[in-house]
Amino acid sequence: MSSSPRKKVAILGATGVAGQQFLVALENHPWFELAALGASERSAGKPYRAAITEASGQQRWVCEEPLPEAFASLPVVDAATLDPRGFDLVFSAVESDAARKLEERFAPHVPVISTSAAFRYEDDVPILVPGVNHEHAPLLKRQQRERGWKGFVAPIPNCTTTGLVVALAPLARRFGLRSVIMTSMQALSGAGRSPGVHSMDILDNVIPFIPKEEDKVARESAKILGSLEGDRILPLALPVSAHCNRVNVRDGHTECVSAGLGRPAPLDEVRDALRSFGRDFVDLGLPSSPPELCRVLEDPYRPQPRIDRMTNDGMTAVVGRLREDPVLPNGVKFVVLSHNTKLGAAKGATLVAEYLVHRGLA
Ligand SMILES: NC(=O)c1ccc[n+]([C@@H]2O[C@H](COP(=O)([O-])OP(=O)(O)OC[C@H]3O[C@@H](n4cnc5c(N)ncnc54)[C@H](OP(=O)(O)O)[C@@H]3O)[C@@H](O)[C@H]2O)c1
Repeated sequence: MSSSPRKKVAILGATGVAGQQFLVALENHPWFELAALGASERSAGKPYRAAITEASGQQRWVCEEPLPEAFASLPVVDAATLDPRGFDLVFSAVESDAARKLEERFAPHVPVISTSAAFRYEDDVPILVPGVNHEHAPLLKRQQRERGWKGFVAPIPNCTTTGLVVALAPLARRFGLRSVIMTSMQALSGAGRSPGVHSMDILDNVIPFIPKEEDKVARESAKILGSLEGDRILPLALPVSAHCNRVNVRDGHTECVSAGLGRPAPLDEVRDALRSFGRDFVDLGLPSSPPELCRVLEDPYRPQPRIDRMTNDGMTAVVGRLREDPVLPNGVKFVVLSHNTKLGAAKGATLVAEYLVHRGLA
């Protein structure tokens, strides 16, 4: 199932928080060869290590893993000047407005897997979460046909939506899903570095507002959990009430979720639905796939971001505190944690790319 020879890929936004995680996800990748690092004109013209180093000498490498030596001396190029025809696939990790222009330039020629929101809400664009809604992927063919593109834009969701839908999809499939209330405690890395969150704002504090986030979570969850009917996605009729908060945690979004199910469900059955979810997908054995999509813990003090975010290299959503919710009809409630820059950004997007290659779509 491997693609041989390796596909030449570029990263747009390689110097940012998500972009750096792409360097880690692509180091020694069996199918993808990193051929170019794009960023803004601010970083262009320097070797990668110099591009992420401040004038003060501070190196702004934010991943836990070391900067892959093989990439440290590659030149950073102004993404707007890269020739799309030079690549087999492109990963985009740029803020939405800039991403829109760049992705529109690349997608006519080459598949673009994007962490940005630029195209997420368009009718011919699936929002892909590996193992959750990969059956939406054929919608990309409509995108190519109608836009006359050889490539496409395939976005992943907002990083808060990702962990949520990994936990909700098994419930929706087995029991039906009527309503969701979610309160997030979102990590600082989710805000990126430009401008990011200032330490003076977040130390000793919780910030109860993240612009556009609650609307994104509601809209994207309904689309991802919806069904592909012919050439369009029918969103799930699912009211989602989201409260999104920024907390003083480096990586890993924690979400307290109450879900009203379509029928009464004993907690053991809910546990089983979560644990067994996605076996067919992980059995594909894709290079970045975790061995389990969702892990359920019994310790009432877990999941915790510091302890659990790196479960299966940050690619497994971790659920805990599963119990009945007495307020919602057929209600259950739980906590779900997912790594926002691994599953929720670069490594998740890499897994999407692997799936599309596996399906012959990219
Ligand atoms: N952080 C997360 O957890 C996360 C998770 C999921 C999705 N996302 C999405 O991923 C995207 C990137 O987020 P981030 O957190 O990595 O942001 P970030 O740390 O601020 O990085 C932004 C990146 O975009 C580049 N860039 C900015 N303007 C550009 C332009 N006009 N042309 C080319 N490159 C440009 C920057 O290059 P310079 O260094 O040269 O300025 C930098 O590499 C956003 O759309 C975000 O919503 C982020």
